[in-house]
Amino acid sequence: MSVSVVAQLVVLGLLAVVLNRFVQSRRVNPQQLPYPPGPKPLPIIGNALQVPAGASWLTYTQWQKHYGDLIHIRVFGTHVVVVNSAKIANDLFEKRSNKYSDRPDIPMVDLLGWDFNIALMRYGEKWRRNRRLVHQKFRYEASLRYRPIVLEKVREGLRNVLDKPEDFNLHLRHIAASIIMSVTYGYEVNPKEDRFVTIAEEATEMLVNALLPGSMLANSFPILLRLPEWLPGMGFKAYARKCFGMTTEMKENPFTFVKQRMAAGTATPCVTSDLLEGIDTTGDVENQEALIKGVSAMVYSAGADVSVSAMTTAILAMVLHQEAQKRAQVEMDLVVGRNRLPDFGDRDSLPYVEAFFRETIRWRQATPMTVAHAASEDDVYEGYYIPKGPSFIPRAMLHDERVYKDPEMFRPERFLNNDGTVNDDYPMLSFGFGRRICAGRALADAEVWLAVASVLAVFDVTKAKDASGCQIEVEVKYSEGLVSHPLPFACSIAPRGEDAARLIRETDATA
Ligand code: HEM
Repeated sequence: MSVSVVAQLVVLGLLAVVLNRFVQSRRVNPQQLPYPPGPKPLPIIGNALQVPAGASWLTYTQWQKHYGDLIHIRVFGTHVVVVNSAKIANDLFEKRSNKYSDRPDIPMVDLLGWDFNIALMRYGEKWRRNRRLVHQKFRYEASLRYRPIVLEKVREGLRNVLDKPEDFNLHLRHIAASIIMSVTYGYEVNPKEDRFVTIAEEATEMLVNALLPGSMLANSFPILLRLPEWLPGMGFKAYARKCFGMTTEMKENPFTFVKQRMAAGTATPCVTSDLLEGIDTTGDVENQEALIKGVSAMVYSAGADVSVSAMTTAILAMVLHQEAQKRAQVEMDLVVGRNRLPDFGDRDSLPYVEAFFRETIRWRQATPMTVAHAASEDDVYEGYYIPKGPSFIPRAMLHDERVYKDPEMFRPERFLNNDGTVNDDYPMLSFGFGRRICAGRALADAEVWLAVASVLAVFDVTKAKDASGCQIEVEVKYSEGLVSHPLPFACSIAPRGEDAARLIRETDATA
């Protein structure tokens, strides 16, 4: 990029910031109320330098100690409100959900072809139409229908782990992908390089990269979207075109697969076929099909990666907390015995396993900042002025010392009553809030619980040993980004004896 073009972009950027600040300053704050407390901003850039691009939830957690549960910061011209307590989250995102259910505007989303992603949609009629369909197919009662698929895919995962334990992370990915593809399209995923999964993963990765703070200038300065592509610095347009091609394939290909099988009378009932059968043929069929295509394609991107993160966290917790693992296994042996695998019907009789599962989703949230909500209008809360704009929700709530003593410790007992029964605290906050709460939480809960219970039943998960027989130490380190994963770690996953190995093999009906 030539120096003069860079200079022009910088000037454009600064103009946009100044204009934005001017507009913000003219905003309605008739009583001149203070913003919530927060670190002192610098002129123009605000708190941009204080907010780390990566694990910002850690910074927000520290700020909570200085500034309290409601923090205001400004990044260039944009106001951000950080909510650090469950009470405030409940007051704003539940009780005032008509105001706090929007998402921040991310100009690149449409250009990338990701406009069908409900999680990023602005609050309004389009979101409502999409959410209604997802709710219809993934609410608790509807999700009960998918339990046989979850059971089959988790057990296939157990066989894969038995065969190649060192590839456990790939097997967890396969469990999540195959459940979602089977539920959504009645499609059996190829364990190696599946055509539908590969394209969905690549398109999702391109989206995630484009959302990283600072990665795409056009997100901060949408005016750039109007400039011609031949100008230097417009590389994001070619990037977006490539992604658009992928998202188109991601929507079209599996959808066509279902339609062809329906036409041939060979379709396995699934979310897409159900929705297609419900089409009002006297209405605008093309529009209804477009909606179904988008909803179906969105499920993979919303549900696969997060589920993998939660399952991997469970394995990490087992490696590091042998005593918790043993206690869960003792309970499992007492209740389920050694001659069969656990099923959903056993869940209520396995309080410690339930507590282990709940602690897994509390201890390390798959989406540590959930997904940013935005206020669609200015508001006042407890005397503070809350401007229209995005509000991040850090994980501090599930690590709030006032609620969870020693929050960094993995301690399933915190979800048990004194008599050993499960208490009423389900860490629902890990699935978000209000009207934007995770629409797939019933499926996610079933899938992750069954994976955790099944692994505990048949495997011993311990630290791996190196060539000289020394234990390989494992650190709790996570990737950054919207979905956070444990960084790769070594462990040993061995069947709990010959009986367990036999049980796992017997789950293969085709053998
Ligand atoms: C362990 C697994 C999962 C976790 C931890 C998780 C977590 C979340 C979170 C934190 C949000 C944002 C909520 C908010 O903005 O307040 C969300 C949104 C969403 N999730 Fe999940 N999720 C999981 C699995 C799934 C699955 C399997 C599906 C499949 C149907 C799914 C579908 C969605 C959808 C559609 C949204 C967007 C909701 C909206 O914006 O209206 N999720 N999820």
